[in-house]
Amino acid sequence: MDNNIIHEDNKKVIEFLKKNPRLTNGPQVKKFEEKWSNWLGVKYSVFVNSGSAANLASISYLRTKYNDGEIIVPTITWVSDILSVFYNNFKPVFVDINKDNLAINEDLIEKAINKKTRAIFLTHVLGLNGLTEKIINLAKKNNLYLIEDVCESHGASFRNKKVGTYGDISNFSFYFAHHMSTIEGGMVCTNNREIYERIRIIRGHGLLRETSNLKLKKSISKKYNRLNNEFLFIYPGYNLRSTEINAIYGLNQIKRLDRNNNIRKKNFEYYLKNLNNKKYFINFNLHGSCNYAFIVLFNKEYQNLTFRNKFEKILRKNNIEFRRGLSGGGNQTLQPYKKYFKNKIKIVGKLPVTNIVHNYGYYIGNYPTLKIKKIKKICNILNSV
Ligand SMILES: Cc1ncc(COP(=O)(O)O)c(C=O)c1O
Repeated sequence: MDNNIIHEDNKKVIEFLKKNPRLTNGPQVKKFEEKWSNWLGVKYSVFVNSGSAANLASISYLRTKYNDGEIIVPTITWVSDILSVFYNNFKPVFVDINKDNLAINEDLIEKAINKKTRAIFLTHVLGLNGLTEKIINLAKKNNLYLIEDVCESHGASFRNKKVGTYGDISNFSFYFAHHMSTIEGGMVCTNNREIYERIRIIRGHGLLRETSNLKLKKSISKKYNRLNNEFLFIYPGYNLRSTEINAIYGLNQIKRLDRNNNIRKKNFEYYLKNLNNKKYFINFNLHGSCNYAFIVLFNKEYQNLTFRNKFEKILRKNNIEFRRGLSGGGNQTLQPYKKYFKNKIKIVGKLPVTNIVHNYGYYIGNYPTLKIKKIKKICNILNSV
C-alpha cells in the first residue's frame, strides 16, 4: 500500500497548528462529521479514533438495549467485529460467506436466526458490496438491528445508494491503507437520533453531558438528582474520541475521495482483465464495488500447498507485499482469543468458502498512485506462477 497522506494534507495541519488552537475534540471534528454525513447520505456521524472503536461503539449501543443474545457475523471479517460482540456479552454466531462478494451468506443468516438473535453484523469485504435485498428484509422481518462494517468499502453502493446508508448503524475506518486516512480514525453513522445520541455518550466515557439532546439531559439529570449532572455516567462507555488534527486530515482527504476511488476502481478492473482466469477466480460480483486491494483467489485445480508455496515465493522475490486470508487473516473461528470469553461461539452450517479463502485467498495493495504499467507487471508475475 502507499501512504494516503500527502504533502497537501500535512500543509493544512501545519496551517491549523500555527493558530495554536485547542486540539481536543472540537469544531473541526464536528465539521468533519457533517461533511462525512453529507458525503455518505446519512443524518448523523460520530468521529472516533479507529474503525475498531466504531465497531465497539456500535455493539456497545446494542448493550444499552439488551443484556445478552446472539449476533450473526461472517467468518471473514476483522477481529474487532467479533471482539466487540464478546466484550458486550453477546454470542457471536458465525456463518459462511459467498464466493462472489466474499460477504455473509443470506441463506445461512436465515438459518441462524432464532429468538435470541439481536443483530446481523455484516462486513463489506475489500470494496465489494455485501448487502442483498434478502438480508435487509430478514433484518426488518425479524426486528433485528442491521449493522454494516464498511471499513474496507467507502464509496461502494447497493441499488444506487452508498453502502453504510442501509443499516441501522454503519462503521468506517480511516486507517493507513483504507480509501482515505486520518492517520487513525473511524466513523459511526446512522439516521436514527436515539442511536446517534447514545453513540456520542459511549464515545465520551458514557457521560450524559455528551448528548446534544437537552430535553433528554434535563429529564435524566432530574432522575439522578443526587449526582452531579456533569459527571453522570449513564451507559458503559469508553474514551473513543479523536482530535482536531485527525479531523483536519479528514476534511482535506474527503475532497479527493471520489476521484481516488475512481482510480482504484479502474485499477481493479484492469487487474482482473489481465489475470489468468484458469489459475485465479475473477468472477467477483462487481456491482457497486469500490475496491482498495487486489483480490487473489486460486481456482480449484490450484488449491494445493505446492502452488501456494510457489506463489508466495515468487511474490516475495519480486517484492510484492501480500496478505493471506483476505480481511483479518481468514477464518475468525480458528483464532485463539475466543478462549478468554465465557460465551462460546456458535457456527451455523459448514464453512467451505471460508476454508478456500483462508488457505488460498490473498490481497495485494491497490492505491491511486499505482501506475497501469506496474499493475500489468504484477499480473504477469502472478500469471507466471
Ligand atoms: C473490515 C474491517 N473492520 C474494521 C477494521 C478496523 O479498523 P481500524 O484499523 O481503523 O481499527 C478493519 C481493519 O483495519 C477492517 O478491515
